[in-house]
Amino acid sequence: MSPKGGKRGNAAGIGGKGASRGGPGTHKDLVGLEGLSSGEITELLDEAVGHKQSWERSPDPLEELSGKTVCLLFTEPSTRTLNAFSAAARRLSATVMSVSGKHSTSLAKGETLLDTALNLEAIGADVFVVRTSAAGAPERLAERVRACVVNGGDGAHEHPTQGLLDIFTLREHFGDVSGLHVGIVGDILHSRVARSNLFGLKALGARVSFIAPPAWMPREAEALGARVSLDLEEALPELDAVMALRIQRERLGDDMGPQWADYSRDYCLTEERLSRAKPGCAVLHPGPMNRGVEIADSVADGPRSLILRQVTNGVFVRMAVLARCVRAKLEASR
Ligand code: CP
Repeated sequence: MSPKGGKRGNAAGIGGKGASRGGPGTHKDLVGLEGLSSGEITELLDEAVGHKQSWERSPDPLEELSGKTVCLLFTEPSTRTLNAFSAAARRLSATVMSVSGKHSTSLAKGETLLDTALNLEAIGADVFVVRTSAAGAPERLAERVRACVVNGGDGAHEHPTQGLLDIFTLREHFGDVSGLHVGIVGDILHSRVARSNLFGLKALGARVSFIAPPAWMPREAEALGARVSLDLEEALPELDAVMALRIQRERLGDDMGPQWADYSRDYCLTEERLSRAKPGCAVLHPGPMNRGVEIADSVADGPRSLILRQVTNGVFVRMAVLARCVRAKLEASR
């Protein structure tokens, strides 16, 4: 897959190029799930389970990030990721600094993302959560700042905490993801969510099918370990879970691929299509949804849907990621 905005080559997981230095317990950043081991992912998910259980017992904030400042540096729009990271940081007693929107920051005056981050670090940021259209920017930032860097979605490269929360939700629902067959449907070519899910799910022993029209199927899908299908109706009966991706108008440019109506006709998750699926087939969507385009209302809001559970779980997963990155930085500085 060649994400727009920069070829990423062998994109690294936690620690970027330093992934070989260790996983979440030994390094300060999370830039992707590619290269993470099953053990590293499972440790994060287990920690998130602990946060969920603790929250359900008592919603009192934990002290783990007391005195730390988490800076949400978002130059692309976000509802779920931004607010889930904000909630996660507050539930760990961190101070939250939010620097959102390309046009309301000095980025609009030509300041670079690195200079912006260095200035925010000078104000006290201990962690940056970065959402950007530039694939690879969080990894480059992680190499230049002392603060922890967590990728909140970079172009068409990776969205590691989305992948983790999707896997968390599947594990919670099915008990285990090993052996599950998960279908991801839509514009795979431009999807950071598809990439992070593929890397994370494969590491944990799940099978992943990419289901898309030819224009949106990356050439290297099979080489990355995905099964490839152009036919949703043929693929559906085999799946334990199916995730519809948002059709991202903003990344398509002139390369629209199929028209929306054609796409919906062949790939929209409808009740009628899902009648061919296993009775227990679960439905996911990372959001935001184009209702009626990639998913029908009745499916999004229906009994198979785990969509709002994904969002809830995103807070606990992000608590685990923030806490582990900060702990790793502290351990490295000893
Ligand atoms: N899934 C996701 O990244 O949603 P937001 O763009 O609202 O953060």
